[in-house]
Amino acid sequence: MQKKALVVSLSNEQPQAQVEKIELAPLPPDWVRVQVAYSDINYKDALTLKAHSGVLRDYPRVPGIDFTGWVTASHDRDFQIGDQVAGIGREIGIQIDGGYQETVDVPGEFLHLLNGQRTLQDAALIGTAGLTAAIGLTKVLDTESMADRNAAILITGVTGGVGGWQLALLASLGYHNLTVITRQVDLKAQLLARGAKQVLTPEQVLLPALKPLAKQKFQLVFDNVGGDLLANLIPQVSENGHLVVSGNAGGIKLTTTILPFILRGVTLHGIDSVNYPHDDREEIWQLFETAFWPAENLRPASQKITFAELLPILTTFTTQAHFGRTIVKFRSRRPRF
Ligand SMILES: NC(=O)c1ccc[n+]([C@@H]2O[C@H](COP(=O)([O-])OP(=O)(O)OC[C@H]3O[C@@H](n4cnc5c(N)ncnc54)[C@H](OP(=O)(O)O)[C@@H]3O)[C@@H](O)[C@H]2O)c1
Repeated sequence: MQKKALVVSLSNEQPQAQVEKIELAPLPPDWVRVQVAYSDINYKDALTLKAHSGVLRDYPRVPGIDFTGWVTASHDRDFQIGDQVAGIGREIGIQIDGGYQETVDVPGEFLHLLNGQRTLQDAALIGTAGLTAAIGLTKVLDTESMADRNAAILITGVTGGVGGWQLALLASLGYHNLTVITRQVDLKAQLLARGAKQVLTPEQVLLPALKPLAKQKFQLVFDNVGGDLLANLIPQVSENGHLVVSGNAGGIKLTTTILPFILRGVTLHGIDSVNYPHDDREEIWQLFETAFWPAENLRPASQKITFAELLPILTTFTTQAHFGRTIVKFRSRRPRF
């Protein structure tokens, strides 16, 4: 039996991707085979096509760090044929073949059983982006800063997957003093409609000159961009404020000083969704069943593409402006078992 897959190989140190037909391998003990319904595009997926990004170590590899679908074979007693599941992050699409193929084989421990309200499509909308946003939020939700629904909160990279989920979660939890940063000024009206109070460009929050401490403007900053933007935001975090950092879409270098942390008691929370423990992930999925599932008008924007459209969109994903989540539809109809 064969399946269609997007395969990345290395040729002269350059990743090359193409759709191929590959053979189904025997399913190892404790592994589960899933017929893919949806996958998605995250920043990290796009990096698999970039030379020297360091994301992939072994080739050939099928990327796609997230997928949802139906179990078609199982060597793990926790999963039965016909179960609806989501595989989000972990080693998927990085150390083992991922979601950009018709069927995926993964260890059962990488799967979440969708046995609540969330559909296969909902779970793809969530994906790594939603999980990362939700983990970050749980780190600060019980802090004094967030006790006040009028807390001044800033989100960078808001048109992206993680930032879009941060806006969706914060707005639906009733936070209304939300400043969001985007270079896509044409999206202002859409971001205001999704709960932002103020839409600014990165330039509008840069300091005239980078200094250790500046006027205290934000109690919480959710940052997905890093680099110069984050360097300029750290001095503007208020006394006892929080920085939730999850991304580096704008760069990995960070120029800062110790002063905001020791003179203002600012706390920095680094988010790693990949190695987030299984039981804690299950708690996050539970939140997406309840308080963390926004009303439809507040959910992140999304566009659905076909597998045939995936490669060109993935190739330009980090350089082309986009808005919200990109969901890759393989099939929406339940297969026959
Ligand atoms: N820590 C974790 O576990 C984890 C999990 C998921 C993602 N991430 C990281 O989080 C980041 C965002 O991921 P994503 O999937 O949400 O990506 P994404 O959908 O591409 O969103 C990134 C957003 O950042 C903005 N941006 C990009 N380059 C920028 C620059 N040079 N200056 C200012 N803004 C810039 C863009 O917004 P505008 O076009 O509106 O300016 C873009 O929409 C990535 O670095 C990713 O690797 C980390």
